[in-house]
Amino acid sequence: MIRPFFVLSAILSLAAAGGYAQSSGEATYKAKCMVCHGAAGLADTGVGVAWKIKPVTSPAVKTFTEAAMIDATKNGMGKMQAFKDKLTDAEIRSSVAYFRTLIK
Ligand code: HEC
Repeated sequence: MIRPFFVLSAILSLAAAGGYAQSSGEATYKAKCMVCHGAAGLADTGVGVAWKIKPVTSPAVKTFTEAAMIDATKNGMGKMQAFKDKLTDAEIRSSVAYFRTLIK
């Protein structure tokens, strides 16, 4: 039997160990954002469901400009912590850019 949590943590540690973690928005997203916002941005995670985080399919998320998203990620929003002391500006920008690719 495949244990999904084990597979997920294996993927997460691969992403963290990858040398490209700094430059790739996708790697940063998977390491720092996916736990809440979900792999496809649908917030279909334990935290996402518990906190009722809005999925990228939500009209409210679609109205966010890229600058507003960068601001929310830097300074925090609702229950989301501020990332400005945890990630570089470049990491914030690239992970937001990746998040935006999930908006359909
Ligand atoms: C601990 C959970 C958590 C983590 C980790 C997290 N977020 Fe959030 N995020 C939230 C919550 C809660 C909100 C508040 C709005 C909502 O419910 O969607 C939010 C809102 C946002 C928004 C505003 C638009 C929206 O979806 O509502 C953006 C953009 C965003 N997050 C991006 C990120 C990025 C990029 C990362 C990784 C660097 C990240 N988040 C990590 C919980 C989280």
